[in-house]
Amino acid sequence: MSDHNQVKITKMDFSGERPKAENPLKIQDLTFRDGQQSLFATRGRTEDMIPIAEMMDQVGFWALETWGGATFDAMHRFLNEDPWERIRTLKRYIKKTRFSMLLRGQNLVGYRNYADDVAKAFVERAAHNGIDIFRTFDALNDYRNFETVFPVIKECGKHFQGCICYSLTERRMGGEVYNLEYYVKKAKELEAMEANSICIKDMAGLMAPYDAYVLVKALKEAVSVPIHLHSHFTSGMSSMTHLKAVEAGVDILGTCMSPYGFRSSHPALGPLVMTLMGTNRDTGFDIKLLSSINEVLEKEILPKYRYLLDDTKVSIIDTNVLVHQIPGGMLSNLVNQLREMDALDKLDKVYAELPKVREDLGQVPLVTPMSQIVATQAINNILFDDEKERYKMITAQVKDLCYGLYGKTPVPINPKIQKKALKDHPRGEKPITCRPAEVIEPELDKAKEDVKGLAVDLEDVLIYALYPVTGKRFLKWKYGKEEPPEDVRPRTLEDAKAEQELIKKARAGKLVEKKEKVVPSKGNNLRKFNVFVDDEYFEVGVEEVGGSPIVSYVQQAQSQIPAQQPVTVAPSPQVLPAAPQPQVPAAPVEQPAVPAKSTTTASKKAESDSEGTPLKAPMPGIIVSYKKQVGDSVNTGETVVILEAMKMENALPSPAGGTIKSINFAGGDTVARNDVLCVIG
Ligand code: CO
Repeated sequence: MSDHNQVKITKMDFSGERPKAENPLKIQDLTFRDGQQSLFATRGRTEDMIPIAEMMDQVGFWALETWGGATFDAMHRFLNEDPWERIRTLKRYIKKTRFSMLLRGQNLVGYRNYADDVAKAFVERAAHNGIDIFRTFDALNDYRNFETVFPVIKECGKHFQGCICYSLTERRMGGEVYNLEYYVKKAKELEAMEANSICIKDMAGLMAPYDAYVLVKALKEAVSVPIHLHSHFTSGMSSMTHLKAVEAGVDILGTCMSPYGFRSSHPALGPLVMTLMGTNRDTGFDIKLLSSINEVLEKEILPKYRYLLDDTKVSIIDTNVLVHQIPGGMLSNLVNQLREMDALDKLDKVYAELPKVREDLGQVPLVTPMSQIVATQAINNILFDDEKERYKMITAQVKDLCYGLYGKTPVPINPKIQKKALKDHPRGEKPITCRPAEVIEPELDKAKEDVKGLAVDLEDVLIYALYPVTGKRFLKWKYGKEEPPEDVRPRTLEDAKAEQELIKKARAGKLVEKKEKVVPSKGNNLRKFNVFVDDEYFEVGVEEVGGSPIVSYVQQAQSQIPAQQPVTVAPSPQVLPAAPQPQVPAAPVEQPAVPAKSTTTASKKAESDSEGTPLKAPMPGIIVSYKKQVGDSVNTGETVVILEAMKMENALPSPAGGTIKSINFAGGDTVARNDVLCVIG
């Protein structure tokens, strides 16, 4: 290592004078992408980035990470925002600082390898719209998956940063798979591909400070391009890891503005700036400017997102991550998914299952999409396996991994699982060994055809090509062909403040729960009356007790009149006047995943209770497609529906043989767990 990068203290007085450092540490800010992705489930809206955008441009960052990763998915799926528009909007405010995006190699910003034509078009459009640095990784560290994207990055005159996903199979760096030789070999491969810089991507915060020191030092000696460390805070080590990396001569570090830092995100920038002040690695950043940015975030932006923070936890570190190795963003998804499936009590079992599934699948690094693939399969195994059968419900993505569609796993896949997964695989039962995209037929023309009349430009087509189900739905919202549901609209600061007020009141004990009245049991002489107060309707039962009549109960009906509840007078032999029955559902109706769809779900459930065996959704999700139609015959175990859950596709087998009697949903519909998807009779 050159002397150039060694930390030397040059000035430490309080005169206010701050000499320019000889070799300032470069900083990539991650607030707009990884920070909000890690802490707030990628729900950050463009409008909430604008208030600090111009100030961020003044800091002097090496780059601002503004795009990629899960943002493309979350924006069109949950926020009703055009992902391409975000780059263009932010560019209007940020004129000096380069934009970086996280590109998942041939997975682009999705969860599978796309065809070469889609990959080329995507990178070209991203560069055209304003992405300057492509932080590119492959979840398997199989760099054949860069072969299509990196020449396009270079042709567009942009910076190609190659990543090495940092992973462990033991407590510390080393062992059979992820040892120092492995990382040095990977760095040399990237340098040979003419990467402009190399990033070590420690997505789960597993890198121990002393391992960082050894690793960065070795990489600085092995290659000549700048070394960038991207380390998540999750386990609490990364501030120390950063410092040891600086001591070993790292060139670039990734941090967040403090309200978006820590937890499963990244160390905050401020402490690092202060740590290096007066040394030859001084960032030169103005701490007052940083503090003004933090203040805007803290007061005007974060209250809107606070509800997404897990505030049941006081601790900001998760030492558990050292055991299960699940990256930050994945943790919250895992918990949410289990909660939606009423299976949160199985979390420990899922944690225990994770390393087993990972080993079976070739010790893949736990990074998107591998982390989701391993986690979803672990959930499926815990929920659906029994003593007789393991891997009862294998996701389509695990099947594709076994086929070789993601690339080469660090060690071979368990042959037994591979054989089972590849049974009846549409591409064949023999796995491939070539670069995965070579077997993927071009997809762009078909995508163009599919959204003809809906997509206006190539960028629209790409939204659909990457995300056919939710992408198409978004395009319908975008062009006013479908009304976006209530829950994709932004939360206002007022909403957040009202909620905070309620929480405050509750904490101060000022929200008093209404005491439940003791209701006497109804007697035989009960008489019912209808009482109308303005638009509200009450059913009142009056009973004579010990002589004089007293009001025994007043029950508010569920609906208001007159619109929703037509009052019909049914002939009643016993009591007068006839009382309409209050509309209380007979059985508790399960809460669907998307409230906006509740009415459809409920009515479809009702009409589906016909004779036959129902195929119920084993988990909440979105219907991708039905493989059968009404009237088709089906055998037990044959795939009837493809259900997307946690972004993984699950082929749902028929629970019985017979004919499809009814189909209750269509592609794109959101379903709740236990919704009847179809009936076989
Ligand atoms: Co990250």
